Amino acid sequence: MKLFLDSANLKEIEEAYHTGIINGVTTNPSLMKQALADKKKGKKIDLTDYIQEILTIAKGTPVSLEVKETEEKAMVEEALSLFNQFNPIANNVYIKIPVNSSLKGKTRPFDSLKAIKTLVQANVPINATLIFTPEQALMAAKAGARIVSLFAGRLDDYIRIQHGIGFEKSDYFPAEGIKKGDLHVQDNGLVSGVDLVSKCSHIFRMYNIKCEILAASTRNSRQLREFALAGAHIATVPLDVFKAAISHPKTIEGLTTFLEDVP
Ligand code: E4P
Repeated sequence: MKLFLDSANLKEIEEAYHTGIINGVTTNPSLMKQALADKKKGKKIDLTDYIQEILTIAKGTPVSLEVKETEEKAMVEEALSLFNQFNPIANNVYIKIPVNSSLKGKTRPFDSLKAIKTLVQANVPINATLIFTPEQALMAAKAGARIVSLFAGRLDDYIRIQHGIGFEKSDYFPAEGIKKGDLHVQDNGLVSGVDLVSKCSHIFRMYNIKCEILAASTRNSRQLREFALAGAHIATVPLDVFKAAISHPKTIEGLTTFLEDVP
């Protein structure tokens, strides 16, 4: 299973890559905005230089950059422009396309699939993003996406919000779901984000679909473990979750004792 870093923050990317275990980076416009705001602090930052630095640190591993356009032709143009500008730097750019680019009041269900198909024909590797159902993932894979990004953590959030269950962002949500009375709270038959990953993994393996399942919006280390058990090919993880995942109080206690006992 591959581990990607979910961040556009250069310092975090450097720190994560120095561990030697990171297989890629995912960014999105919100992560990019946050990273630039953190770095700016009064200074002027050149976005092109900034992205170049990310690609260089991550050389040899994929970095996903997301389009902002939402109409088929504009998405294709923006994706080609991003790919042609940035891929020559380290040959590691994936273009992220939302699986469906409809917005409130603007329905265009198939623009993204058509854009993905066109871009795949132009040899642009695609990460289809904002996926919340196995059927969205199946359709994106059929269009030729190399990666499908399943937003597991956000699905857990959505299920809790729909059912009035309070939570903090990093709270664990059980893979097997939560029961209210005799029934599971769920979204159209999916009881958790891990369930989404698991069902998608089952379908892709059953039909031998050659598209990598990326489990995204990872909220805590237990969820990372459950993504692995559910058959995700990739998990994209924020740096603080990696830090939590490598920690255990008994590890610290044991090391402290060993150091005290050094003869
Ligand atoms: C994935 O590629 C996304 O960038 C990311 O995992 C979204 O995570 P969030 O739900 O914590 O914003």
